[in-house]
Amino acid sequence: MRPTGKLHLGNYMGALHNWVRLQHEYECYFFVADLHALTSDYADTSQVKQNTLDVALDFLAAGLDPEQCTVFVQSHVKPHFELPQLLAMITPLGWLERVPTYKEQQENLTTKDLSTYGFLGYPLMMASDILLYQADFVPVGQDQVVHVEFTREVARRFNQFYKAEGSGPRAQGAEILPEPQVLLTPSPKLPGTDGRKMSKSYGNTILLSDPEEVLRQKIRPMVTDPARIRRKDPGDPDKCPVGDLHKVFSSQETLAKVYDGCKTAGIGCIECKGWAADAIVTLLAPIQERRAKYEQNPALVREILHEGDRRARARAEQTMQEVRPAMGL
Ligand code: ADP
Ligand code: NA
Repeated sequence: MRPTGKLHLGNYMGALHNWVRLQHEYECYFFVADLHALTSDYADTSQVKQNTLDVALDFLAAGLDPEQCTVFVQSHVKPHFELPQLLAMITPLGWLERVPTYKEQQENLTTKDLSTYGFLGYPLMMASDILLYQADFVPVGQDQVVHVEFTREVARRFNQFYKAEGSGPRAQGAEILPEPQVLLTPSPKLPGTDGRKMSKSYGNTILLSDPEEVLRQKIRPMVTDPARIRRKDPGDPDKCPVGDLHKVFSSQETLAKVYDGCKTAGIGCIECKGWAADAIVTLLAPIQERRAKYEQNPALVREILHEGDRRARARAEQTMQEVRPAMGL
């Protein structure tokens, strides 16, 4: 996750809450991708450090447990600089130019100039993020599958050129970089307060750290089913972003009341929004409680990240000790 601000409910439902579950089933590495933030937001980097800390806090608040997984900061683990450079040697330029994000950015050049070497190369950094841990699985939503596919192609090409030279844990001639598999995680697109996809860039987010009052103020003016103009008009929760929130966050019981109340005009939108807010407040209560605990103890957070950096560095360095000699270094 890139450190571009505090995390929102979309980030939680689309990624983070899956990670919280997976940490108990796998040996997991999760990091704040500060180097990736620089690939597009290089002009003003003044907030990167604070945002990195905020995202780490949100990770811990959401329930990533440093006893169950490794949480670290990407730039603190130097192999994240080294492996992309080595993989760059064998990566055809055409592979990078074909990555959809790059093609899109070139076609709709907006305010940011992304015709940089760093932005073109970011898929190699992503590939390295995975391959450094010789990962078997990458938990992603459908939109990220192309990046894992790219990573598999790079690993395949690496393995065609180079083999273990026998000094590491792998026998001489063995493949060094396993091709990672996609672990497809459910990531329903959560709508923001304006009905579009919840996203920082739209300013329509509900943050994991929003206090109850702020959250209720954001939900109150939300757009609803446009056909429901007056209180006595019936509406359709399937055509309403507030209905979408209920589907994700409310109990079956509340959801049934929403469908019935909305379709019969038995409830108004204000009441319906209040119930959605209630469900989100309930979901966020333990998250915010944990966040407050960590905020009050910055030394503990520093300690957790140091330990995460240390563990990630040790694991990544183990891979590099196979990669370097295999490439003749
Ligand atoms: P943003 O659009 O706010 O910049 P990012 O693109 O940084 O968010 O997304 C980080 C992660 O959160 C990705 O895994 C992405 O799929 C997920 N995510 C972001 N917004 C949503 C959303 N509205 N619904 C579901 N998942 C989302
Ligand atoms: Na684990």
